[in-house]
Amino acid sequence: MSGFQDLDFARLPPESMLQRASDFLDELNRRRSVRHFSSEAVDREVLRRCVAAASTAPSGAHKQPWTFVLVTDSALKEQIRDAAEEEERAFYGGRAPESWLSDLEHLGTDAQKPFLADAPALIVVFAQKNDGEGGKHYYVNESVGIACGMLLAALHHAGLATLTHTPSPMKFLGEILERPANERAFLLIPVGYPIDGCQVPVLERKPLSEVLIER
Ligand SMILES: Cc1cc2nc3c(=O)[nH]c(=O)nc-3n(C[C@H](O)[C@H](O)[C@H](O)COP(=O)(O)O)c2cc1C
Repeated sequence: MSGFQDLDFARLPPESMLQRASDFLDELNRRRSVRHFSSEAVDREVLRRCVAAASTAPSGAHKQPWTFVLVTDSALKEQIRDAAEEEERAFYGGRAPESWLSDLEHLGTDAQKPFLADAPALIVVFAQKNDGEGGKHYYVNESVGIACGMLLAALHHAGLATLTHTPSPMKFLGEILERPANERAFLLIPVGYPIDGCQVPVLERKPLSEVLIER
């Protein structure tokens, strides 16, 4: 595909822009990482559309260096849970420096990852280092990171709960899911509904005055 076409761009009235920006902020502000999922099934088409939304992300030289693996099979989820817990036992049992463990303490996380089997779906995001056929990919981490942010926002917008999970290291995901050598596991995202009475850690987000510099 090459050439140029007219841009599809909707110019909005200023009052509507501010309202939309505020509404989007309110919506994103309600997103929380969930670590207790019910096993209630999720409409597969909703998940597919959220992945399609993520795949609209910008990418270096438009290489779209991502693969999303949607796992709903119970046996596969159990296999991923077992492998993740093995890595996480090593992580919490000595591999992680004390300072890292102390930074995680307020989240109440440990080596047990029941949500990997409980959540009805896992979306495993892989980053493609290259195209696997000698072609290069550029700014892969930036591109896949942006796609993941859009995926989390799309899932939240569709009414689903997510966790951004990074069992360390994640090599086992490529093996279990039989991904090619040019792909590296980037994020493991359990998706579904929170259990009734789900609790999340109390946290504060940095105020705008701390994160935005205007010059
Ligand atoms: C790159 C990345 C990796 C993360 N890895 C984990 C993880 O392995 N396990 C976990 O429970 N939470 C993980 N989180 C979730 C963070 O702990 C969470 O986003 C943070 O505490 C803020 O909470 P919130 O998402 O509810 O706003 C990760 C988040 C990011 C962005």
